[in-house]
Amino acid sequence: MRYDKMSAFIVMDIVREAAKYPNAIHFEIGQPDLPPSENIKMALKNAVEHNCFAYTESLGLPALREKICQYYDRTYGVTIPPHRVLLTPGSSGAFLVAYTLTLSDGDKLGLTDPSYPCYKNFAYMLDIQPEFMPVDYHNCYQLRVEQLKDKNIKALQISSPANPTGNIYTPECLKELNDYCIEHKIDFISDELYHGLVYDETASTALQFNPNAYVINGFSKYFCMPGMRLGWLIVPEHKVREAEIIAQNIFISAPTLSQYAALEAFDEEFLATTKQIFRQRRDFLYNELKQLFTIEFKPQGAFYLWADVSKYTDDSYEFAKKMLREIQVAATPGIDFGTNGTKHYLRFAYTRDIEHLREGVERMKTWLKKQN
Ligand SMILES: Cc1ncc(COP(=O)(O)O)c(C=O)c1O
Repeated sequence: MRYDKMSAFIVMDIVREAAKYPNAIHFEIGQPDLPPSENIKMALKNAVEHNCFAYTESLGLPALREKICQYYDRTYGVTIPPHRVLLTPGSSGAFLVAYTLTLSDGDKLGLTDPSYPCYKNFAYMLDIQPEFMPVDYHNCYQLRVEQLKDKNIKALQISSPANPTGNIYTPECLKELNDYCIEHKIDFISDELYHGLVYDETASTALQFNPNAYVINGFSKYFCMPGMRLGWLIVPEHKVREAEIIAQNIFISAPTLSQYAALEAFDEEFLATTKQIFRQRRDFLYNELKQLFTIEFKPQGAFYLWADVSKYTDDSYEFAKKMLREIQVAATPGIDFGTNGTKHYLRFAYTRDIEHLREGVERMKTWLKKQN
């Protein structure tokens, strides 16, 4: 069975366990605690009021695709025609489409280790072989072009900002990787779901360096709408019809009400406030956690801190379970994200307010003194 190679998304198991403790501190879940703007809620109510319960066309609402294109123009100076944008059920839906468009049975998909756990499981579902390439703090968790040589990969999947490490790819590195992929006919798939949540500089989109890159983004993180299950995929011009046919078959259309609500999502003022809140949380948690664990570099984006806890344990999964049991502090074990030294790491999400984070830090401080 294809399923046999799949593994649990461990964070979701931890979420289930943590929910058993009413006093739990949550560093595990990677979703914003902030609600979306009032305008989004109003658009959703209006859509309900107007009985917008039908499917949309498979590519998605034209008005929303138009807004996404305007966003790329404003943010990156990149022009894309709306017909190249496909709305998907979460960005999760976009991976299935992108992999189906670029890979055949047995083909190799390049992934970094560590990386977002679901990439490899999507690959397994489609009989695609993941080719893991180690990344570490020496190169700020960026993949190097030299690592691609002789790997015989057909497509490369990266994320920037990355989950779990929070690093972003510099424009130079992104360009180098794209140049290599263009030259060697490797499809470049760029997960940009955490764009917008970049705190000290601006992130580049792969489309700035590769007009045929497959770019994935969505409304779950920066736009604070994870449960609306809405993402998008930008496909190369020559793949639009194929993408549409895949979408028609596997999900018909992305959720209609969510698409109407998302028409109000590109609200610069609201988004700037959201980013500022996450920046403050990052600064707070980074300063606190680096006194408890080894944090090799300050993450530039997303909402995660990747902490080396090896001075306390060589099995961070057991450590996470014990921490949850004994002090009700939930964090995600590194092994969710790969095998490259990940047993030494925990991922901490700063997706709660500072008071909540502070309480977690205080509990850990007292508890860690008793370890070893
Ligand atoms: C890097 C990355 N990509 C994709 C996803 C999928 O998110 P969604 O399907 O909600 O867009 C996540 C979720 O945590 C993620 O961290």
